[in-house]
Amino acid sequence: MCGIIGVIGADDVLLTILEGLGRLEYRGYDSAGVVLSGHDGLWRCRAAEGTHSVSDLRGLAEDAPTRPGSGVGHTRWATHGEPTAANAHPHFDCTGRLAIVHNGIIENHVELSDRLVAAGHVLVSQTDSEVLCHLIESEMADGASLSDGMRRALGQVRGSFAVAAMHADEPDLVVASRRISPLIVGVGDGASFLASDIPALLGSTRELFALEDDQLAELRPGAVQVMTLDGAPARATALSIDWDVAASRQGGFDDFMTKEIHEQPTAVADTLLGRCRADGALVLDDASGLGAADLRAVERVCIVACGSSYHAALVGKYAIERWARLPTQVDIASEFRYRDPILDEGTLTIGVSQSGETVDTLQGLREARSLGSKILVVSNVVDSSMAREADGVLYTRAGPEIGVAATKTYLTQIVALEFLALVLAQARGSLSSTEIARLMDCMLGLPDHLDTVLERTKDVAAVAQALDEARDFFFLGRHVGHPVALEGALKLKEISYLRAEGYPAGELKHGPIALIEPGTVVVGIASRNDLWEKMCSSIQEVKSRGATIVLVGNDGDEQTAELADHMLWVPRTEPMLSPVVDAIPLQFLAYWLAKAHGHDVDRPRNLAKTVTVE
Ligand code: G6P
Repeated sequence: MCGIIGVIGADDVLLTILEGLGRLEYRGYDSAGVVLSGHDGLWRCRAAEGTHSVSDLRGLAEDAPTRPGSGVGHTRWATHGEPTAANAHPHFDCTGRLAIVHNGIIENHVELSDRLVAAGHVLVSQTDSEVLCHLIESEMADGASLSDGMRRALGQVRGSFAVAAMHADEPDLVVASRRISPLIVGVGDGASFLASDIPALLGSTRELFALEDDQLAELRPGAVQVMTLDGAPARATALSIDWDVAASRQGGFDDFMTKEIHEQPTAVADTLLGRCRADGALVLDDASGLGAADLRAVERVCIVACGSSYHAALVGKYAIERWARLPTQVDIASEFRYRDPILDEGTLTIGVSQSGETVDTLQGLREARSLGSKILVVSNVVDSSMAREADGVLYTRAGPEIGVAATKTYLTQIVALEFLALVLAQARGSLSSTEIARLMDCMLGLPDHLDTVLERTKDVAAVAQALDEARDFFFLGRHVGHPVALEGALKLKEISYLRAEGYPAGELKHGPIALIEPGTVVVGIASRNDLWEKMCSSIQEVKSRGATIVLVGNDGDEQTAELADHMLWVPRTEPMLSPVVDAIPLQFLAYWLAKAHGHDVDRPRNLAKTVTVE
């Protein structure tokens, strides 16, 4: 999704912006641009040369003004209008003296645009964002300041925005505001900063604050003043930063995805660290606002999430129902709030989101809160928008994830949700303390199993090589293997662009089996659990129709291997925890197939890391 960075008063404004944009590339983008304050007005350059636009900007910036006092940069993920240089941000007003960058969607842009065009404004792009620039211009026509113009304009806007603006007449000022789309501000030595995400500013300052909805910030060198859109003084929320710059660099690996896959044992261990006390009591984060009494009062659970987080949530459902004996529903967040959900004070609604910013999940949680539900968030980003609004937070401690396709955040979400299931079981007394201790031991043993699977990447590469002509993949699983299959198919789609569908194996006969023919690859999750025999029957059915069979199976399980053309071996674990281990060979399979097809695994086409628009 779009990335924004703004800098004022730094020694090298342009370099800080370009480095920040580089660190936002992981969000996914298709064009990029920068505007700087110069001696005779604003200077702008934009590039839309495929996936390397930020590097292209470095070349284009050769004629940039020397020592600009301020500047704003943007990476765009196209929503309205193609990814061309003309549609790239920053956008100018009619005079070229006012510039804005925007993330979000201005829902009433057509109506606003009609009004502005009728009043004589000339709009040159197909974007909704440019409309906002001209709207601010029109609100400044009576001599209003940039801040006042922005406040008045945003009062007329419907939709979501994180926006930053500069005006040639006020070169020592950058004005920014947000609604729904995230925006943070920071103060350093004589400089101030803004960005859509923490990694962009990690190298510049650690004094960071999150703007709340409908707050506006005036950034001057070394000072940030925050107010509401009505002009009343306000405070942004201070952020606790525990990531370092090194964690967001590639560190000797070929790409971020490989690095992040290999960080999974540590990420899982960190997520569980300190959460089981010596007396066997399980603890949520210290900052969790959900005490034992709140947990005991829970009557049912509703989980909302998108993408890989949704798949982790499906695993969580199995664990919460089995261990805590609480009815649990899982909803795709983009559908949840539009189906008039039935929730009440007895419902615990859990938002699962690595970024903590995905707009559908955030809005779903707001809907749940308005219906009286308590809110718990499982997030990887400390003080993210969701975390700030929740009653309780369970942080995954995976560190920054740069690869667009989730790997370590997904795995730690499963671990966090299974841990939460045990916390609920303990609070409700639905499992004995001996059983909880046994399961906790199994969880704490997961990193060792993960280390074992990680050593097998070359074995998976050989399987991928044997499949490099294949174009159609089905991923089948049962019970907790079903979400594993869904995630395996999603990973393959995301980075290799191959057709891949995930199904519960039992559904096969209700349609999908019609598509099985020689050449189709079926990847089955066949690690041992109660439904292993039924899973094997489904595999037999597709095998006898000519499919090539790849199976995830437990080390030494020859009965499973007999069914397979290719095996992806994993160590045997407690069946409920098997999704954590079984995910890894599927991550590798997607990775090696994407490589074989020559794709950029970190920045797959059309995808964004943080989806801040509906
Ligand atoms: C995007 C990302 C996925 C992620 C999904 C949900 O589609 O590419 O990797 O699973 O958003 O994001 P969230 O931050 O809410 O987990």
